[in-house]
Amino acid sequence: MKTHEAQDQASLFDVVYAAYKEFINPPLARFMKIAGSGVEVRARGCHVYDHTGKAFLDFCGGYGVFTLGYMHPAVVEAVRGQLDSMALSSRVMFNAQTAALAKALADLAPGDLKISFFSNSGTEAVEAALKLARLSTKRKHLVSTFNGYHGKTMGSLTATGRDIFREKFEPLVPEFEHVPYGDLESLERALPGAAAFIVEPVQCEGGVVVPPDGYLRGVRELCTKHGALFIADEVQTGLGRTGYLWGVDYDGVVPDVMTAAKGLSGGVVPIGATISKTDVWMRAFGDAPLLHTSTFGGNPLACTAGLAALDVLVREHLVEKSKTQGAYLLEQAQTLARRYPEVIVEVRGRGLVAGVELRSEGYGGVIIPECVKHGLLVAYTLNQQRVIRLEPPLVVTRAEIDQAIEILDGSFAKARAKLGALSA
Ligand SMILES: Cc1ncc(COP(=O)(O)O)c(C=O)c1O
Repeated sequence: MKTHEAQDQASLFDVVYAAYKEFINPPLARFMKIAGSGVEVRARGCHVYDHTGKAFLDFCGGYGVFTLGYMHPAVVEAVRGQLDSMALSSRVMFNAQTAALAKALADLAPGDLKISFFSNSGTEAVEAALKLARLSTKRKHLVSTFNGYHGKTMGSLTATGRDIFREKFEPLVPEFEHVPYGDLESLERALPGAAAFIVEPVQCEGGVVVPPDGYLRGVRELCTKHGALFIADEVQTGLGRTGYLWGVDYDGVVPDVMTAAKGLSGGVVPIGATISKTDVWMRAFGDAPLLHTSTFGGNPLACTAGLAALDVLVREHLVEKSKTQGAYLLEQAQTLARRYPEVIVEVRGRGLVAGVELRSEGYGGVIIPECVKHGLLVAYTLNQQRVIRLEPPLVVTRAEIDQAIEILDGSFAKARAKLGALSA
């Protein structure tokens, strides 16, 4: 017979699952249930705890949000303090937290990137960048990459390079063109007369695709040559994820506009930012400061979280940790690739974002639930379902990486035993 506690846990799951099925997203709810998802109840560091109290080591990290882990005490404390004075902005008065975060970002951003427009998500940060580019250059044509991911609102979706997300919403934003990622010759053909090229330093949702060394330097040179803005979409790669403060730092280049979101407010309050050079911003909005606005963007709560998160990132040397732990994670994951060549095509990554490319999507259907069963959260990348992302918080320890690798090892063995050699 079930204890009362077990009954309560089961009924919490039933109630939440039923609500998801009826009021949120019926097919996704069923898919999540099959994948073994429980109800998340609380989280700390690299762990999420479900309704039964079971701990899950999170190697999905909110798709890159939890750079500091969950509920970093310094960020939580700062946000609690700010809640006592004011949470959202009046919008008609100056706000000290918004000002301080904009200054901190200007200090940390590469080169002379200086002016921040604040929003509440990655896709909004991208929308702002695209509008800024058209206005600043007085040109219309925008260039992005196949297999890139920039969000799902209309402008960002048009930039996103995956047909399945785009086709059903056509007509999308006109005057957009996609070029192959990592290919400077195609870019050069597309750039004459273009307002901007938007690109990720690593295509994270595209299956963790790392471009050839020097690619971003080539992008910088070509954009300068053709008078197009270079927009680096750092929503996922920014703030230490790739082992560099910004993904563009790998090639040592300064874009004209940069987006940030995900890890920016330490996984506590959503925020997005579009950071641009002053002259670029002035050409767009210098005589029309209210052309692009956001009611909630830059609110004091989110900016307080952002300031605390940037402080933790620097104080705890998380960028350096991302590089060393990322190298260890990659090395360990590559041993799995050698052990399961029937299942894994390759493992690749930079810093603490790694992708395990499977020979067939079918393997993921066994591997992901098997990982969940053994207490490890992993997920597909959004554009490439054949790739499982490994994207833990930057505070992850070696012991936690070892634990994740052990669970993955067992899951690959299970997938191989169950499915044999699948064709792609
Ligand atoms: C590079 C990049 N840009 C934009 C986005 C969209 O961010 P959001 O889901 O917060 O709108 C994402 C999300 O994964 C991303 O990885």
